[in-house]
Amino acid sequence: MEEKHWQKKSEEEIKKIVFGALDKNINYVDKNVLGVPASYLDDKVFSQDASFLKDAPFLSTLIKNPNHIGCHTIGESESFFAGTQEIERELIDICSYDILNGTDDHFDGYVASGGTEANMQAIWIYRNYFNSEKRFENDEICILCSEDNHYSMDKAGNVLNIPVQKVKVDENNRTISKETVEKAIKAQQDRGVKAFIVVANMMTTMFGSVDNPDVYSEVLDRLDTPYFIHLDGAYGGFYFPFSQKEHRLDFRNTNVSSVTLDAHKMAQAPYGTGIFIIRKDLIHYANTKEASYVEGEDYTLIGSRSGANAVAVWMILSKYGPFGWMEKIFVLQKRTGWICDQLDQLNIKYYRHPSSNIITIRSEHVSSEIAKKYGLVPDNHDNPKWFKIVVMDHVTIEKLSLLVEDLK
Ligand SMILES: Cc1ncc(COP(=O)(O)O)c(C=O)c1O
Repeated sequence: MEEKHWQKKSEEEIKKIVFGALDKNINYVDKNVLGVPASYLDDKVFSQDASFLKDAPFLSTLIKNPNHIGCHTIGESESFFAGTQEIERELIDICSYDILNGTDDHFDGYVASGGTEANMQAIWIYRNYFNSEKRFENDEICILCSEDNHYSMDKAGNVLNIPVQKVKVDENNRTISKETVEKAIKAQQDRGVKAFIVVANMMTTMFGSVDNPDVYSEVLDRLDTPYFIHLDGAYGGFYFPFSQKEHRLDFRNTNVSSVTLDAHKMAQAPYGTGIFIIRKDLIHYANTKEASYVEGEDYTLIGSRSGANAVAVWMILSKYGPFGWMEKIFVLQKRTGWICDQLDQLNIKYYRHPSSNIITIRSEHVSSEIAKKYGLVPDNHDNPKWFKIVVMDHVTIEKLSLLVEDLK
């Protein structure tokens, strides 16, 4: 693996870099900053100089409260927070180049509130592109995704006022096919749709299943229909690239324009760390020029957002380094394999993508007592057909073995 940006760092190095970045941000105590509606966290509640803070770079950032409003990979940004914005830029580079295999192409991105926002940001950009470059009306632009997609695509369709078309997946192997994609496209073309915003999955919420984006591009290219492909790696972005090397779900695939990868899922970062990355020369379709009081204007959905979130994700990735991360995922893969072997021995039917840590069990094998006792999540609370196990860091073989005993 050739690491371009991602390097393992010691605790001391991490501290030095984060505290150095905070020193480059505006200091509300020492400087006369009279014009911004922002400050450090309320010091009657959150002490600014508790002794442990000198060893706690994330908490120190949280307390100093930098606002990362806007997007820092394009043009100017608020100079007040230049230090920690630099850390965010480095994080975007790590994700774009080292995790998603971007090459000499360049990328824009930011730390969004979560996967929902990052997916919506992508769809917003592409809808605006088709509106302004092709003069297509909203009802001529359609979100195309599988029926296993996260519901954020339905939310995006509703907010952005464009239709959503689901592609049927195979009940057993959860994959889309050329035929189901063609059928979905035809249904929308018959209604007058002229362009598609494809959202392909790098691990779905319920099944951990993975789409082959080439199925979408082959059909759309053949039909000579304009489209963009966004990858929803909200769940899988910090997992799948490490559990499977050969695939079409990253920037090596020139048809892929943007990716969501949430650090607050598999990377165990604080909530508010949905990462959005897009190839250069597209994010300006989401520029809000009216944001004139913001230095560099705003290219994001969210507006104000905490700089501490970017610092937290950067710290996590820097502490592990790329090989440490590979090992972390390797252990989760092994544990997932272990539970699958146990389920096989019990003749329990389940779905698992071989590169995923989600196991989705047919509901006929799971009583409501077991589901409740082990916090297994159903696909549908009213009439569950499936229950899932997600093998996270805390889901050890010791804990899984208790479930296996009960399933017997
Ligand atoms: C595949 C996928 N996409 C998007 C989301 C939405 O992420 P968030 O809850 O961070 O908005 C999720 C959340 O579970 C998800 O699993």
